[in-house]
Amino acid sequence: MSLTLGIETSCDETSVAVVEDGRRVLSNVIHSQVDVHREFGGVVPELAARDHLERLPGLLDLALEKASAKSADVDLLAVTRGPGLVGCLLVGAGVGEGLAAAWDKPLTGVNHLWGHIYAAMLTRPDLEPPLVGLVVSGAHSDLVRMPAHGRFEVIGRTRDDAAGEAFDKAARMLGLGFPGGPALDRLARRGDPKRQPLPKPSLPGLEYSFSGLKTALLYRLRDLGERVTDQDRADLAAAFEQSVVESLLEKLDRVLPTGGEVARSAGGAAPEGQRGRGRAGGAVQEVVVCGGVAANTLLRKRAAEVVGSRARLTIPPLELCTDNAAMIAAAGFYGARHAADVDPSLGWE
Ligand code: KG4
Ligand code: ZN
Repeated sequence: MSLTLGIETSCDETSVAVVEDGRRVLSNVIHSQVDVHREFGGVVPELAARDHLERLPGLLDLALEKASAKSADVDLLAVTRGPGLVGCLLVGAGVGEGLAAAWDKPLTGVNHLWGHIYAAMLTRPDLEPPLVGLVVSGAHSDLVRMPAHGRFEVIGRTRDDAAGEAFDKAARMLGLGFPGGPALDRLARRGDPKRQPLPKPSLPGLEYSFSGLKTALLYRLRDLGERVTDQDRADLAAAFEQSVVESLLEKLDRVLPTGGEVARSAGGAAPEGQRGRGRAGGAVQEVVVCGGVAANTLLRKRAAEVVGSRARLTIPPLELCTDNAAMIAAAGFYGARHAADVDPSLGWE
């Protein structure tokens, strides 16, 4: 048995977790900074970093206590190294380094995006790569192949806004508070997407783009002006959500039969020399939808319908979709055993 203590501070959630053998969550304490940032309508990096620093010691004690573990029981420390807000990452990394020195334990730096995929491994302990992941968070909308632990290959990404960012901006336009994504989700449940339809973004290949959709919403709201009703807002939230979700799933649907090979050579992101070369190909058997936006009600429902019986779909429960340290501990556990040959701190590869 091996215990990993994970620390996550990349944005506005402070979290510490203890995970057994990279698969079993013994504790996962999460402090959301929503109340710190609400009055500013978005995350203020300096305040976020300071709050991480204040909260971490207490959360650390709590995570160990809930896991019935002592510092001596910990075998590995795993800390989010990137991507994220630099000041916030430095707080987590500094605390991780301090603990590693004080406890005389190894420390591993974890890529936050890898972490989101490993949240699925905590959800289904039998889940193993190869898999295809749709990683949708505040800053990323990436379609990724994971052929093995520690290996990731981006086959589709957004040209502009990430899905979470688009939801947050749309929520602001609709007069919803911070955080926008969950508020838009709630409002959309009262709306009808057919009453105020918005265009569904569709680029060739496997790329996403959400900025045009955002502009379409802005113009529709301008046209409605003072006449806009609460029902209009709910209908627009539903239409916006539907366009984002269907756009995300359209590309996932396209890669299911081939694992991304055909779609890539038909205009996707693969470099010329690599197209179709020596790749596994074949129908995808495991699909993971993860990241904060995977908490979205419609995305969860439609992903299940789109994937159907063609592959096995894993979407983590809500608390493992949004940022948490259990996923960082899991990714750290595997990352330490399957070392990547690149520095993964800022992106996938
Ligand atoms: O993964 P995450 O917690 O943090 C990042 O790594 O960015 O994702 C946060 C994003 C935010 O943009 C938030 O608005 C969005 O996930 N989000 C949602 C929902 N819950 C969180 N978007 C739509 N519907 C939701 N229910
Ligand atoms: Zn995240």
